[in-house]
Amino acid sequence: MALFVEVLPHKQDLLSRALAVMKTEISRSLAARGQCAIALAGGSTPKPLYEALAQLDLPWSKIHIFWGDERYVPADHPDSNQRMAREAWLDHVDFPPENIHPMATTSNDPAQDAQIHEGQLQEFFATAPGEFPAFDLVLLGIGDDAHTASLFPHTAALSVGDRLVTVGEKQGEPRLTFTIPLINQARCVIFLVSGDSKRPALARIFAPEASHLDFPARAIKPQGDLWWFMDQAAGSELKARP
Ligand code: 6PG
Repeated sequence: MALFVEVLPHKQDLLSRALAVMKTEISRSLAARGQCAIALAGGSTPKPLYEALAQLDLPWSKIHIFWGDERYVPADHPDSNQRMAREAWLDHVDFPPENIHPMATTSNDPAQDAQIHEGQLQEFFATAPGEFPAFDLVLLGIGDDAHTASLFPHTAALSVGDRLVTVGEKQGEPRLTFTIPLINQARCVIFLVSGDSKRPALARIFAPEASHLDFPARAIKPQGDLWWFMDQAAGSELKARP
């Protein structure tokens, strides 16, 4: 794993840098494999980045979109990560519909939906049960509690080591999430972190000693490149680090 940490002046600066790295990684994947599999982050931080991606002219038919996690709501719900990405980006460029691979949240059985999506991933990547496919790019954010994807502190999802997708839990509410081993199989992971509310979490994530059970984002150590892009509001404490 190669680690890159950049603290940029403002949110738009970190998103510009993330866009640049994404473009490089997409080109690299297309050159090497003729396709690129990207897992998107939810939440609010990435929305301007998705809007910027919608302005690009990329070979969308060779790019496949997944989500690293999803709230357990219908796809048209205001909280849906799928809805946010479609409105900001995916519906504005000519992705073939079959290139968009959302997590279904419709069976009223999160565990079943997690298993269904796991099967879809295995089919897409042609991997066998127990094998972890390598996404070309995984975008992530962190919460104020240092969760990432829907891997929240002190939840069972943090201990799932033999599945690709599992059920996360936020204050009793189910979510679907990639597991730590699946994320860590990625060729490139990009964290996007903005705002002073994230400062304490970042300090704990980068602290020499702490448990990923308390601060789940610590567990993300991909086999490929790991990029942390943060603005000064979030990363100032790190700047102050020796
Ligand atoms: C989600 C995300 C989650 C998000 C962080 C940061 O479904 O909410 O996947 O992990 O990335 O909570 O969210 P913000 O970008 O809104 O701060």
